[in-house]
Parts: sequence; C-alpha cells; structure tokens
Amino acid sequence: MKNKNYLWSGDDNQSIDEELMDFMAGEDIKLDKHLFKFDIIGSQAHIGGLKTCGVLSGEEYTKLHMCLSQLNLSYQNNEFILDNFYEDGHSAIEFYLTEKLGELGKKAHTGRSRNDQVLTSTRLFSKHNLNTINELVKACAQCTIDLAKQHKEAIMPGYTHLQRAMPHTVAAWLLGFAEAMIDDSYLLNSTLDYINCSPLGTAAGFGVPLDLPREQTAKAMGFDRVQINPVYAQNSRGKYDLVVLQALYQVMLNIRRFSWDLSLFITSEFNFITLNKSHTTGSSIMPNKSNPDVVELMRASLATIEGCMAQIQGLISLPSGYQRDLQNTKEPLIKSVVLTKHVLKLMPGLIMALNFNTQAMRDAINPEMMATDQALKHVKHGASFRDAYGQAKNESSEITAEQSIAARISLGATANLGIEILQKRLNDS
Ligand code: ARG
Repeated sequence: MKNKNYLWSGDDNQSIDEELMDFMAGEDIKLDKHLFKFDIIGSQAHIGGLKTCGVLSGEEYTKLHMCLSQLNLSYQNNEFILDNFYEDGHSAIEFYLTEKLGELGKKAHTGRSRNDQVLTSTRLFSKHNLNTINELVKACAQCTIDLAKQHKEAIMPGYTHLQRAMPHTVAAWLLGFAEAMIDDSYLLNSTLDYINCSPLGTAAGFGVPLDLPREQTAKAMGFDRVQINPVYAQNSRGKYDLVVLQALYQVMLNIRRFSWDLSLFITSEFNFITLNKSHTTGSSIMPNKSNPDVVELMRASLATIEGCMAQIQGLISLPSGYQRDLQNTKEPLIKSVVLTKHVLKLMPGLIMALNFNTQAMRDAINPEMMATDQALKHVKHGASFRDAYGQAKNESSEITAEQSIAARISLGATANLGIEILQKRLNDS
C-alpha cells in the first residue's frame, strides 16, 4: 500500500489528521471522476504551453503527452482507478506522471495551480455537456414537432385558469413546448459562448513569472478566447456554473410544465391521454393502479436544479480570489448536468408513449367555448367588439369547434401553426 502524501506537503512530510483530510476532500474524488478526462486535456494543453515557453524540451513534452494519453486510456478501461488514495483528480494526474516518468513527471505542474487546473477542467466539462444537452434538447424539439404534425386535426379544449376557454388542437399544444425547447437551444448556445474562455495560465489567481502562451493553450483546448484577468478567473468559479445552471433551469422548466400537463391529461377525470404500459408503474397495494411515476419524477427534477442553484448562490458569497468554499460548487454543477441529461434522454421515449384519446378530447368541447368566435362573427358584420361581446354572451352559437380552429389563421394559431418556421429555427440553432 502506497503511503498517502500530498502534493503540497513538500519535503517536510507534514502530517495532517486523516479525518480532517477526509472532511476537506469531501466528495471530491467521486466528483472528479466526471472531470478527470477534461483535467487530462487541460494538462496536455498546459505542457504544450510549457514547451513553447522553454520549460520543457520537445522530447520531454512528447513523453508527458503520451503518458497523459495513456492515463486517459487506462482510466476509460478501468485500469487506472481514481480512488480515495488521492486527494483529488489533480493530484492523481501528478502522481501517475511521477510514477511513470520519475523526475520528468514532477515538471508537469510548473506554472500551474490546482486553482486554474480545476477551473479549466470544470469549464471543459461544462462546455462539453452544454453541447450534449443542446443536442438532446434539439432531439426533443424535433420529436415534438413530428408528433404535432400528426395531430393538426385533433381538437382539444384550450384552458386558461384551468377552465375551458376555446377549442385548441393537440398540435398547437405540443408546438408550444417545441418552440420553448428551440428557444432554449439558443440559450444553451449563448451560454456556451459566455463561458467559452480559458482560465488556464492564471495559476493561483495572480499569473506566474513565465511567458505562458495563454492564447495557444486556449486554442489547443478549443476555447474561443482567453479569460484575461487572473482574479476574475478565480471569481468566475461558481458564477459561470450558475450561468450554466440557469440555462438548465430553463430547459427543465419546459419539462416541468409538460409533465404537469401530462399528469392532468392522464387522469380519468380528463382522460385525454393514455400512457403506454412501458411508461406506467403499478401500486404495491392497489391492483387497479397504473401510475405515471416517470412523469412525476421528471416534474420533480426542476426542484433539484433549483436546490443546486441556491447552493451555488450561497457558496459564492465570498471575497475575491480562490477560497476552498468553491470546491463545493462542483457537486451542484455535476449533479444538475447529470440529471438534466438523464431526463432529456428519456423524453423522446415518453413523447412516443403518449396516446391521444381524440374522442374524449373532442367531447370535452362545449358550445360556450365558441363564444369568442360568435362575437368576432358580429364584428365582421360591422359591430364594435365590445357590443359584439355583449351580444355573444347571451346567444348560443352555431359555430362548430372545427370551424373555430379552421378560422384561426394568424401565424401560430391552430390553422397556421408555423411549423416550417419552427423547423427552420430548429435547424439553424
Ligand atoms: N479540490 C479543489 C477545488 O475544487 C482543488 C483546488 C485546491 N486549491 C487549493 N488552493 N487548496 O477547489
């Protein structure tokens, strides 16, 4: 068994109480599993910078680079295990390099602090996941549009205040979610632009006495720009994570509202939608039950994101510069990203498991719901709207729900859904 020692203990073998160390490491090792491959990418970019500024020879650089690639491979294959022997993922990288390459391994951390190292890996993690989440959101939007196209004629009541308002269609209801998802795809892209800058080279928050080629390393990692000010780089920890979570919040807000609608429409009281058996669960006591648990847990997911946002907001009440408090921003970031991806992956399957009970939806339309159409009919014959409104209130209308939805021809309404425009926006996002 290797003796545990720490990157920062130097030669004096400073001893520290293990319980204290456990407290300080917290969940770091578990969380760093999500960041490890990004930490390796950051380390490879950093040694590239060290070569450019003359700290490493070309040969040294190549050896370190290959060793890091080997570590990445071993990690993916579960040959290298990131466990509690290491204080965190960053130390694990340095231990590995030193174990494999001896003295050379000790050079990799030149001009770097774990402060800019962790910033770099979390930023790469966020960038990667914003892209993945964007693809998932776009897939959900596409799935919703495709389903809407099949239900342009399916009439259902439209509600305000949860009271029947006007005839509506399943397509128009679904496209409300599709458009929200398309908007959020743009939000995810702009969030990506916002955080697309490299903190690498800012070290502990003050720069270092080396001519680190920060633009080169930023480019090597695929960043758009360099985050210039080292203090700001530190202060952006948590702040950037919050921006990411704010975008995820919007994404999951759509899911919550969709789940809410589903959970109402699935009830026997509404009976508008039936869920395929694949998406219902039974009760442990009531043999008659078939429950939409998955819909409810999707609805509940936003509360987790909100909790994570609150946690980060609380944590970043700090003075300038690195403080260890910031370590605790990792968990809410990673938790939210993992949860959002999980829910989004399940969405297309859920959407495809919906069956619309078109007859029940049509039966829920009552003649009073055409009162607005009736009023507008009088307007077409010259009445002012207010007078027509009063007149329609006291009349029964001959207008059918089918006529009502066919007459709503302005963009976005039931007879002019604007599907091609939405599709183009989705394709362009
Ligand atoms: N695990 C630490 C974090 O996430 C790494 C940085 C430690 N830096 C330090 N100065 N102690 O913040």
